Amino acid sequence: MKEELAAIKQEILDGIKEKATSRAEAFELRKQYLDSKMGKISGLMKQMKTIAPEEKAEFGKSVNELKNWALEQFTALDEKMKKLELEKRYAKEKIDVTMPAKNIETGNLHPITQMRNQLIDVFAGMGFEIYEGSEVENDYYNFTALNTPKDHPARDMQDTFYLSPEFLLRTQTSSGQIHVMESKKPPIKILSPGKVFRSDDDATHSPMFSQMEGLVVDEKITLCDLKGMLDVFVKKIYGEDTTTRLRPSYFPFTEPSVEVDVSCFECGGKGCKLCKGTGWIEILGAGIVNKKVLENCGIDSEKYSGLAFGIGIERTAMLKYGINNIKMLFESDLRVLKQINDN
Ligand code: PHE
Repeated sequence: MKEELAAIKQEILDGIKEKATSRAEAFELRKQYLDSKMGKISGLMKQMKTIAPEEKAEFGKSVNELKNWALEQFTALDEKMKKLELEKRYAKEKIDVTMPAKNIETGNLHPITQMRNQLIDVFAGMGFEIYEGSEVENDYYNFTALNTPKDHPARDMQDTFYLSPEFLLRTQTSSGQIHVMESKKPPIKILSPGKVFRSDDDATHSPMFSQMEGLVVDEKITLCDLKGMLDVFVKKIYGEDTTTRLRPSYFPFTEPSVEVDVSCFECGGKGCKLCKGTGWIEILGAGIVNKKVLENCGIDSEKYSGLAFGIGIERTAMLKYGINNIKMLFESDLRVLKQINDN
């Protein structure tokens, strides 16, 4: 009997050495000996009836000792396996915090959308509301109401795509001025961004481009208000050191009309390639709303005056981001678009 117990002991030791490589295997091994029904050690107890009465006490004691010993062995084995498995897991899940991070590519808005948003931000901050007009207009809103009747020479300034004798693709967001003034009484302060169309095509012109129209109508609006607003605009877009200069110009719907220059943000006004040595860059057209235009919309031109400006969004973006061909903005070349992320 002693030999049998010793053999089981050896078997357990061998099993622990050879068969248990995981917690699950250790558990299976333990079951082979300690399971209350099937276990070998539990089985020994069942042999009690075949043992001579004088040996029963001795036998019982030995089996119990074996059982306790086996319990200890398997508990220790379980602990060991638990530790080993944890170590393995830690090794597998180890993170090297010094590794370079994976570059997650994010998209960005199109430069024209970015510029449009920046402009809206600037003017919304001054209390402008957005009015989006329609791209198809009739002759009256695009020209006649803007003091540019048929055969007016100023119509030549904008080569127009006519859809019919009456309808056309708007050549300027100024057409929105009329819609707004027809439907709203002063004070008016609107910003009208949108696409415009002209039969014009070279490095700095495209048949489709975008403008941002500004219109303010109230009592005592003067060129000073215009200059003040545009100064804020150029400082926000081109830098705090920039300023504006107004030059006389002509638009049928403004009187006086001005061409607005920004001081060169590249050379600070000393003269460089960008400003063609002049220190100034032309950025937009503007003026005091022609009294005739106010009257066309039923606004009392004695009581009210207005200012208007039209910003070319592509031009503003090209200057800011150093793009010299407008087509680059329409070709969807990701190598170009990815470089411009200002929002
Ligand atoms: N509509 C003019 C253009 O497209 C710009 C402009 C707008 C001029 C408002 C004066 C006032 O050239």
